[in-house]
Amino acid sequence: MAAGQLILQRARQQVEASFQRAGRSVIDLIQVHNMGAPDVQLPILREYKEEGRIRYIGITTTFPNQYERLIETMQNEELDFIGIDYAVDNRSVEQDILPLAMERGIAVLCYLPFGRSRLWSRVRGQTLPEYAQEFDATTWAQFFLKFIISNPAITAATPSTSRPTNMADNIGGMIGRLPDEAMRRRMIATVDALPLCLTINSLYLFNKVSIALRQ
Ligand SMILES: NC(=O)c1ccc[n+]([C@@H]2O[C@H](COP(=O)([O-])OP(=O)(O)OC[C@H]3O[C@@H](n4cnc5c(N)ncnc54)[C@H](OP(=O)(O)O)[C@@H]3O)[C@@H](O)[C@H]2O)c1
Repeated sequence: MAAGQLILQRARQQVEASFQRAGRSVIDLIQVHNMGAPDVQLPILREYKEEGRIRYIGITTTFPNQYERLIETMQNEELDFIGIDYAVDNRSVEQDILPLAMERGIAVLCYLPFGRSRLWSRVRGQTLPEYAQEFDATTWAQFFLKFIISNPAITAATPSTSRPTNMADNIGGMIGRLPDEAMRRRMIATVDALPLCLTINSLYLFNKVSIALRQ
């Protein structure tokens, strides 16, 4: 079999495997992971969508050195969703990607809303600011999540946790008022003033920023 055909066959097998693992005949959303091979994978996902087996299709990345390709794909393809990294201390997608998503009507899933462990290291031992009451946040998790979902370009934040108590805390981020633009700027100033902690994840972010600056 020619290499091109083999790639196509493998891409189809991946999609079929997703249906088997999920045990469903229809899946709401399948995305090309980390920019994968959109030229090959998106046409296949589109076929499934036309057959009614996938409701929405999209593409993801959490790597700034892939943002340029993501932007090109958003401009040239019909996408329903993108998934990107966004947090109160990691806002580079605000420049081009989120405005383009709004312009093109593309829904946005926010990954890494806590920067994995990065934001937790930064707020360790820090008291939640009193002004957080003004948008009904009672914990740092709710502060971080409300910052994200109050951005009009964001469709949903996807925090992950292994603990039911943290899950309940994170659900609290969907309840009550959200910060307005002036309050969002205040939240950024608060987090920017916190000490930077050198965790594995912050080194990962610095690496991502330095890659982006070199481009
Ligand atoms: N390209 C992609 O498609 C891509 C790339 C990266 C990530 N993602 C997705 O993005 C989602 C989030 O990623 P992530 O888990 O790496 O990062 P994250 O959600 O930013 O951070 C998760 C960390 O936060 C902690 N945490 C969660 N809720 C908490 C709370 N209320 N209080 C204190 N700590 C809390 C968790 O610890 P505990 O377990 O102890 O709560 C865990 O260590 C996942 O669904 C992942 O699959 C997608």
